[in-house]
Amino acid sequence: MPNVIRKAVITAAGMGTRFLPATKSVQKEMLPLLDRPMIHYVVEEAVMCGIRDITVVTNAGKNSMQDYFSPSPALEKALSKKPELLEQVRAISKMAEFHFVQQTEQLGFGHAVLMAKDSIGNEPFALLLPDDIIDAEIPALKQLLNVYGKLGGSIVAVQRVPMERISAYGVIKPKKLSDKTYRVMSMTEKPSADKAPSDLGIVGRYILSPEVFRKLQVKQTGALGEIPLTDAINTLISQESVYACELTGTRFDVGNPLGLLKASVAFALKDKNISGEFREYIKSLLSKPKD
Ligand code: G1P
Repeated sequence: MPNVIRKAVITAAGMGTRFLPATKSVQKEMLPLLDRPMIHYVVEEAVMCGIRDITVVTNAGKNSMQDYFSPSPALEKALSKKPELLEQVRAISKMAEFHFVQQTEQLGFGHAVLMAKDSIGNEPFALLLPDDIIDAEIPALKQLLNVYGKLGGSIVAVQRVPMERISAYGVIKPKKLSDKTYRVMSMTEKPSADKAPSDLGIVGRYILSPEVFRKLQVKQTGALGEIPLTDAINTLISQESVYACELTGTRFDVGNPLGLLKASVAFALKDKNISGEFREYIKSLLSKPKD
């Protein structure tokens, strides 16, 4: 089994209900954060970590992501006199080798991951959720890969979450190994605050052993009648090592309008082309007396 992670899975198969009505016709992961769709950021993160083989799990009948990551001859022709834009557009389909698989039944996150089984084969892989965009000096996935390089096994990313919000997360029972690295003793999906084993909530970056596909196939159904990834990883723990890496960086939950807005503002304030004017605009809004 290679000890280098060569392949990544990106799950983008949800209904995007928190973004309705926009998601009636636009896939959530194609909504823009500044000038690029959300999914572009996680693809870029994987590519920055040396991963060139990317499987995107989509839901049936949505082709906009395939279109986005494929060459666009007509657009390229139209941009022939704008070399900078042309290069930008061409670079997208060259970022990686993309595979698209469909989740034809809405059976949840674990089932979506299982759809990538044939594309991944029998090797460890990275899993990225485009709902979680992490602004970090060292890309979030790279932080996990650094732990993987030392310890191997499967790795989940975690961050400290205020207890009043913990029930929205998978939560680990940790045993501290070193600064920001834990052995995972068990994990629970979306526990109530009084049952949560810690305040370390899982965020959407994983390195997983292919054994997880076999666990997902066992088809245990979780609280929501779905096949929860957290339960599948939990059953791995008795056989294989599972670790957690506490991420350094700011995580934005862009799976809802307010989260996307916060990420947009934070990214705009850092973008050298627009930050000056945008900062002035925000200042002027904030200095206006309230109606
Ligand atoms: C999923 C996972 C959960 C994790 C979360 C991070 O939940 O099931 O364990 O904490 O992503 O974003 P979802 O937010 O899709 O309900």
